[in-house]
Amino acid sequence: MTDAKIHPVPANIVQRAHITETQYKEMYARSLKDPEAFWGEQAQKFISWIKPWEKVLTGDFKNLNVQWFVNGQLNACYNCIDRHLPKRANQPAIIWEGNDPSESATITYAQLHQQICRFANVLKKHNVKKGDRVSIYMPMVPEVVIAMLACARIGAVHSVVFAGFSPDAIKDRILDADCRIVITANEGLRGNKIIPLKNNVDAALVDCPNVKTVIVVKRTENTVDWNKTRDRWYHEEMTTVSTECPCEPMDAQDPLYILYTSGSTGKPKGILHVTGGYMVYVTMTYRYIFDYHEREIYWCTADVGWVTGHSYIIYGPLSNGATTLIFEGAPNYPTPARYWEIIDKYSVNIFYTSPTAIRALRREGDVWVKSTSRKSLRILGTVGEPINPEVWEWYYQVVGNNQCVVVDTWWQTETGGILISPLPGATPLKGGSASWPFFGIKPAIVDDHGQPVAINTLGKLIITQPWPGILQTIYGNRERFINAYFNEFPGNYFTGDDARCDEHGYFWIVGRNDDVLKVSGHRIGTAEVENAFLQANIVAEAAVVPVPHDIKGESIYAFITLKPTIKANDTLKNELIQKVRDIIGAIATPDYIQWADALPKTRSGKIMRRLLRKIACNDLADLGDTTTLDDPKVVEHLIQGRLLR
Ligand code: WT7
Repeated sequence: MTDAKIHPVPANIVQRAHITETQYKEMYARSLKDPEAFWGEQAQKFISWIKPWEKVLTGDFKNLNVQWFVNGQLNACYNCIDRHLPKRANQPAIIWEGNDPSESATITYAQLHQQICRFANVLKKHNVKKGDRVSIYMPMVPEVVIAMLACARIGAVHSVVFAGFSPDAIKDRILDADCRIVITANEGLRGNKIIPLKNNVDAALVDCPNVKTVIVVKRTENTVDWNKTRDRWYHEEMTTVSTECPCEPMDAQDPLYILYTSGSTGKPKGILHVTGGYMVYVTMTYRYIFDYHEREIYWCTADVGWVTGHSYIIYGPLSNGATTLIFEGAPNYPTPARYWEIIDKYSVNIFYTSPTAIRALRREGDVWVKSTSRKSLRILGTVGEPINPEVWEWYYQVVGNNQCVVVDTWWQTETGGILISPLPGATPLKGGSASWPFFGIKPAIVDDHGQPVAINTLGKLIITQPWPGILQTIYGNRERFINAYFNEFPGNYFTGDDARCDEHGYFWIVGRNDDVLKVSGHRIGTAEVENAFLQANIVAEAAVVPVPHDIKGESIYAFITLKPTIKANDTLKNELIQKVRDIIGAIATPDYIQWADALPKTRSGKIMRRLLRKIACNDLADLGDTTTLDDPKVVEHLIQGRLLR
């Protein structure tokens, strides 16, 4: 494998950066040598505690009893808002840019504080107590931040559901966490589309008898169905309560939120993050990885429905007293210059987006970028999937004008914050590599037996020591937590990613090694899509695999066996695609459906996905070991019927 060119870090950034390469190396070594001393220092430096911890770290990955900052008390909302008031009351906390370029708003720390206190009182009025779960299904409007931080303020546990998910998906998540209250908006706006959020909630709630209250933000003037005993307008509720609301002292181990993400089997997993470790980790990573300096304007284009939105739109930036930009709309609306225009409009200094968005905007041509100045930019970030080196170069050269650092940040919903990334000023850049581990992170690349592989050899990425941002468990399912992350290589956290490490210690993440897809950076389990197909009663069997896609990274290819009496045709194909969209959401739309008389199985009846992947990708040179196949003719048939050639 050839090594990438090393880009020097622009001098203007090196001069101001929080740390140098030498300091990084020294600090990194110390963080591994004495994690307790290291994280104790960081926790003191970055977080305000109500009561100090008694022990920085107890437990380990062998006994799976890890606890950070034991018996410490804090409140996440206090750290994000209240503690900044003496110094930043009038500094913008949120800049909101609406879907339509003519709509925007600025909310100062003092204003945000007041709104959060009010909404916290609204929640209390509706009987929400510490530890209760609150479902949030919202567009990208300031009220979503208010709702989340109001939960944190009173110790309620938010469970944000991405506004692109279907009623079925909302229902599953509400039931799994037993939420009693839902916060939503009448409608959402994105590009030319109107998203019927309240209608979706209504449909979901048919099967959620425990939900007694729905609070609705009025985003548009359109009317929606109304259930008088259950539904309340946000703006009306907000006028009935006081602006005083104390922060609930939370134990470091108390849950902060649940966020559902896809696994390789079954239903999505409720990833549970706890207050202490998570807040320390997101606050510190935000400061170093985005090299945040006072008064800078920071913009992450993610949706709050994903972990990137939780950690690096809300908790990380606000805990650092930053100004965080929230964008309601889409990158190509009204034109593909929208992102770059927003950067100029607000003089954005730090910009964080996904490889999918970069690829899509790159395809539109440089003119859209070059019609803007972007001279405020210092740091460019990417997350969610590997970024192709040539796309990285475009981001660096065209968007960043060779003046910015690109931080390719690798992490997961489960990790709470970024684990592997360049640090501006400290890390010489190699396009396409997530580079070096963050402080306290000890990754290893191993073979199937858990033995470390040689330099530049592909293997499985594991993390061998606890870090403060790690999930505490899967909500209500500790067994699944252990199976998913600690069974493969006992004593180590299993990431599910393949990677290699080069001779300079740079990590190159290749992609998932389990049955999880990354479609436009969205994480989707093959099992979820297959289950959605199976809910159509014409389907006998379904197998889903990823195929490469120029913009989306991966797209969904499905092999479908219909029940014996059903005749395949294009109308059925479209109905099945619609079925998946209805059950999961548009992000899971299959791009290809290949009819299959039968699926290739081993003699013990297991579908050979490895083979299906190769057939779908038209990668037929080496089909690997097919001796365990029950009926080799099945494969011949599928090859003949393949859709990509
Ligand atoms: C999976 C986690 C973490 C926020 C968004 C995604 C892939 C993430 C990178 C990167 C290569 C990446 C991995 C990982 N991934 N960042 N910089 N380079 N791959 O969170 O939805 O939990 O997905 O995203 O495959 O396992 P997520």
